[in-house]
Amino acid sequence: HFIAGLINPEFAMVPRLVLVLHFVLVVFFCFGFRLVVRETYSYLTTSKGSVMTVIYGTGDLALITHEAIRNDKESQYHVAAFVDEESSKWNMSLNTLPVLSWEKLLKMEGKWDSIKVVILAVTDISTRQKQVIAEECMRREWKLKVMPSVGNWVNGISNTSQIRDVRIEDLLGRDEIHLNQRRIMEGLDNKTILVSGAAGSIGSEIVRQLLRFPVRQIIMLDQAESALYDLQQEIILRHDDAPFKPVLADITNQRMMRKVFETYKPHIVFNAAAYKHVPMMEESPYEAVRVNIGGTKILADLSVEFGVEKFVMVSTDKAVNPTNVMGASKRICELYIQSLSQLPEMKTAFVTTRFGNVLGSNGSVVPLFKRQIAQGGPVTVTHPEITRFFMTIPEACQLVLEASFMGNGGEIFVFDMGEPVRIADLAEKMIKLSGLKLGEDIDIVYTGLRPGEKLYEELLASKEHTKPTYHDKIMIANVKTCDFNDINRQILGLHESAYNESEELIVARMKELIPEFNPQNERYRRLLVARELSV
Ligand SMILES: NC(=O)c1ccc[n+]([C@@H]2O[C@H](COP(=O)([O-])OP(=O)(O)OC[C@H]3O[C@@H](n4cnc5c(N)ncnc54)[C@H](O)[C@@H]3O)[C@@H](O)[C@H]2O)c1
Repeated sequence: HFIAGLINPEFAMVPRLVLVLHFVLVVFFCFGFRLVVRETYSYLTTSKGSVMTVIYGTGDLALITHEAIRNDKESQYHVAAFVDEESSKWNMSLNTLPVLSWEKLLKMEGKWDSIKVVILAVTDISTRQKQVIAEECMRREWKLKVMPSVGNWVNGISNTSQIRDVRIEDLLGRDEIHLNQRRIMEGLDNKTILVSGAAGSIGSEIVRQLLRFPVRQIIMLDQAESALYDLQQEIILRHDDAPFKPVLADITNQRMMRKVFETYKPHIVFNAAAYKHVPMMEESPYEAVRVNIGGTKILADLSVEFGVEKFVMVSTDKAVNPTNVMGASKRICELYIQSLSQLPEMKTAFVTTRFGNVLGSNGSVVPLFKRQIAQGGPVTVTHPEITRFFMTIPEACQLVLEASFMGNGGEIFVFDMGEPVRIADLAEKMIKLSGLKLGEDIDIVYTGLRPGEKLYEELLASKEHTKPTYHDKIMIANVKTCDFNDINRQILGLHESAYNESEELIVARMKELIPEFNPQNERYRRLLVARELSV
């Protein structure tokens, strides 16, 4: 007022109150105008029927997610706020929207009551944190969605179709596994890699992980035509210049396999082709012998002949003190691989990796529950107390890669499977995540334990049966090995006679190879007991 009076004495005549009022009104209209423009823009660009949404995160991924929603005129989301755990960001605004703490959001009454969706758009979040958020969302009946990190976008475009429902795998996976990237990178650099069973759950994930490294070529071999085609399409969508070649072939066809080795001259082989369904293999021991044992032997022998540097065998926890034909067939594969690696002047390093159930693999409990929920239930669980260890497929395959470049060959690496999960809890979480109410919309039905089914699984990586490695999630199993000539002869005998013998006799021959095999199937038990008595 004083300065204005100096510049123009007439101003000194204007009452102070008028100037104060003038200032207040200017500020009010400036902010008010901004608010009106924002709200009008938001109203015009928000599609009808969109739901109040909160984006969890304030980093690049969160901003990309917000941008994708704003650019989508048809978007079902109306973003009202961001959430961040860092207190320095609270009460700031981002893209003109408030940034809140998760606690504050949960406590706030009124405006936030109408929240329907939370989108997780953070890359560095622990599984525990995700579980806590999911619990709260389930309690409040908010839908929890995820914006995957950029590397996991289908066809690499940032749009709202990348936002997906949270999956049980997101909540049960453990915190990120730290890989020795340099060692793996050096091991894979400019190499041609053959992945058998590439269209399966494990094989396809190994292929996805390999694509992140500077490999020369990936030969994706599988006998399942449609599944191989689907994988091929998926990879083309994600990486237009991926160095891969799908090969439709059967690992038990020795001549065809020889042709594959001659044509592509792989440096590394990952053997993930197998028949893995326990009840099926109980009915068809011959197929377990032909595919699991016979197929592995063909690939392993060709690997030696063609000077492959590394052969990685994907095995299973069911090979430990096997109680079924599938597990026994895998144990025989392990013995063969190990005996090969002990041969003098062996150039190929044979590595075996053993792990338990992976979440969401073909034919496992997660896809089964998904189907049952989609059909309106009931969801079937064998026993209320049954527990299992689980890993996600990416976790397991990352550890397969890490183990592949550890040690000198001949080792059996077993993975730390974490904490056991109650299957009934898993079913309940999946029901809630799909937006249904247990007991109202859908039920869980207990069907009773199946023959030979255990309530609790044994620990695969128990301290007394393993040695540690530099990686806290990978251990080396202490196992007996056997002489190559003995096991080779026995496998050839088993394979040859399997054509002519009954299923019971095939199982009895498997037991001769691995005395610790203790079939739970009554049909096979009876014969083995009778044989023992007659000796
Ligand atoms: N899924 C799990 O929970 C799990 C856990 C631990 C270990 N494993 C082991 O991993 C391996 C693969 O399991 P998965 O879950 O990926 O099974 P999957 O059935 O999803 O995949 C197996 C793939 O092998 C292919 N295959 C079968 N026979 C073949 C043949 N003769 N020639 C060429 N391809 C053939 C199939 O077409 C299929 O695509 C198995 O040895 C299994 O024991 C699986």
